[in-house]
Amino acid sequence: MDTGKKGILIALEGIDGSGKSTQARLLSDRMREMGIPFYMTMEPTDSPIGSMIRQVMTGRMQADPKVIAALFVADRLDHLLNEGNGIAGKIEEGISVIMDRYYFSSYAYQSVDVPLDWLIQANALSSSILRPTVNVFIDTDPDTAMERIVKNRFATELFEERDRLVQVRRNYLEAFERLGDKERVTVIDGNRSQETVAQEVWDAVAGYFIE
Ligand code: ADP
Ligand code: TYD
Repeated sequence: MDTGKKGILIALEGIDGSGKSTQARLLSDRMREMGIPFYMTMEPTDSPIGSMIRQVMTGRMQADPKVIAALFVADRLDHLLNEGNGIAGKIEEGISVIMDRYYFSSYAYQSVDVPLDWLIQANALSSSILRPTVNVFIDTDPDTAMERIVKNRFATELFEERDRLVQVRRNYLEAFERLGDKERVTVIDGNRSQETVAQEVWDAVAGYFIE
């Protein structure tokens, strides 16, 4: 039955190791328990454009940072609009969507190499098609995030990665400040236990389901 009620879009954001994917899973468990129809997904996607991005990220393919930024834009538009699993269609059908990263990830990560203004312009089509009901930023200290990453990896270039996480976190905060009048953003302290963070994520989104 089509009640005409749209789904909501929750975009989870954070630096690598912040606990975003864990929170996406815990939120989806909660929504399942409550019988809320939902779809969980992530960017970069597993589409052909997404796999090109992964090839660049793993060094198997070379591309200028501006090209990478444009690939993320293309991957995102496909994520929204593709006929099979497009997010825009799901929201229209009344299915709520949990996104593990959306355009704020581009603002935070690509702005290391590309001007933030350009990135905001380049993502304007995505934000006009689908702006998150709320962006939930899991704000985890870069040292804590690094510890979590190191535990799960064989080898990593520690200093380089830590500095990058510090920079990316700063870029997130700058982007939130810059777009504060257009975007709903909830910042949650990600340094605490998974359960405590999950409860705060739920508190941040629960109200939107009954609006
Ligand atoms: P992200 O998706 O942000 O990169 P993950 O959710 O994959 O982060 O978490 C990275 C690692 O940290 C995983 O091993 C996960 O089990 C662990 N982790 C996630 N949240 C917490 C937390 N609140 N406290 C301790 N460890 C956590
Ligand atoms: P992934 O392996 O999914 O990591 P995570 O679990 O931390 O999300 O890889 C995603 C990587 O892609 C992550 O390092 C951030 C980066 N990224 C961008 O640089 N720009 C973007 O627009 C998006 C969506 C992701």
